[in-house]
Amino acid sequence: MLDIWTEKYRPSKLSAVIGESENINRLESFVKDKNIPHLIFAGPPGTGKTSTAIALARELFGDSWRDNFLELNASNERGIDIIRENIKNFAKIKPSNDLGFKIIFLDEADHLTPDAQAALRRTMEMYYNTTRFIFSCNYSSKIIPPIQSRCVVLRFSPINKNEMVSRLKAISKKENFEIDDESLDAIYEISEGDMRKAINILQAIKTTGKISPATIYQIAGEINKNEYKKLILMALEGNFDEARSMLDKMLVDYGLSGIDIIKGMHSSIRNEQIAYRQKLQIIMALAETEFRIVEGGTDNIQMDALLAKLSYIGSEIN
Ligand SMILES: Nc1ncnc2c1ncn2[C@@H]1O[C@H](COP(=O)(O)OP(=O)(O)OP(=O)(O)O)[C@@H](O)[C@H]1O
Ligand SMILES: [Mg+2]
Repeated sequence: MLDIWTEKYRPSKLSAVIGESENINRLESFVKDKNIPHLIFAGPPGTGKTSTAIALARELFGDSWRDNFLELNASNERGIDIIRENIKNFAKIKPSNDLGFKIIFLDEADHLTPDAQAALRRTMEMYYNTTRFIFSCNYSSKIIPPIQSRCVVLRFSPINKNEMVSRLKAISKKENFEIDDESLDAIYEISEGDMRKAINILQAIKTTGKISPATIYQIAGEINKNEYKKLILMALEGNFDEARSMLDKMLVDYGLSGIDIIKGMHSSIRNEQIAYRQKLQIIMALAETEFRIVEGGTDNIQMDALLAKLSYIGSEIN
């Protein structure tokens, strides 16, 4: 059977959710009171919003949590009418617990249009006696004010490095394999605090059997955009030697090609706030290097020359 680690290692208790201690304390006190308000969980992907909602339901309802918890996805279900229909059907049936309410977890609630949210607000009121809503979203500002004011908003943040790394170590121990610190750093860098992404990379790398930052970057299929930006800025600021060693790391350790790196630099520079004239010069330099490599120039030499050119551009303007 295919074993999906993000599910296998989904925290089943509130206390096992990492990095969100304030939220968890708050939720644990709701559990003690055997009652919860409507809630909004707001934060980036893979930070524990769904996991926390499920853990909360387990702690409130025990073994019968599945009968008392409905998960709906606002962007999958076709339209607000179907969502409301599902809610109605679920809310109509008496809660099978002695708390007297059930939970509806609405994922990606910020994808609903304001009109759809307004319709939902009426539904919330209709079933208040028997249902509590938990809305999950990336940005709470996209939830209409009348819903926001009926909810307690809990914010989730990207998982910090220490917590992510120790969780990944614990998982690798349970799965009986070793992973070195550089590889763990690489996973953290790529994940940008998204625990789902981190665990998925960990599982993929275990399957390849070759555990190193290079394979991790290859598997992840991308190198963190920040690194490209750093490379460009380093060269522009005239830190040529540092930029070169960073470039070597990308070419050798991460196993990227010159063209991969140019593409990465290009996409990171387009959205950067850099002096207009400088930006134009950088883009022209990238295009020229790409052309030379495609025409048969050596990766190493052409990429070194690119960094030299960027240092030159930086010094001309500053
Ligand atoms: N705070 C956390 N503590 C422990 N594990 C976590 C945490 N956040 C995420 N994970 C891991 O990542 C997986 C995905 O997390 P979850 O589904 O809770 O994320 P989410 O915040 O709901 O993301 P999305 O916004 O994409 O729905 C979980 O199954 C779990 O393995
Ligand atoms: Mg989720």
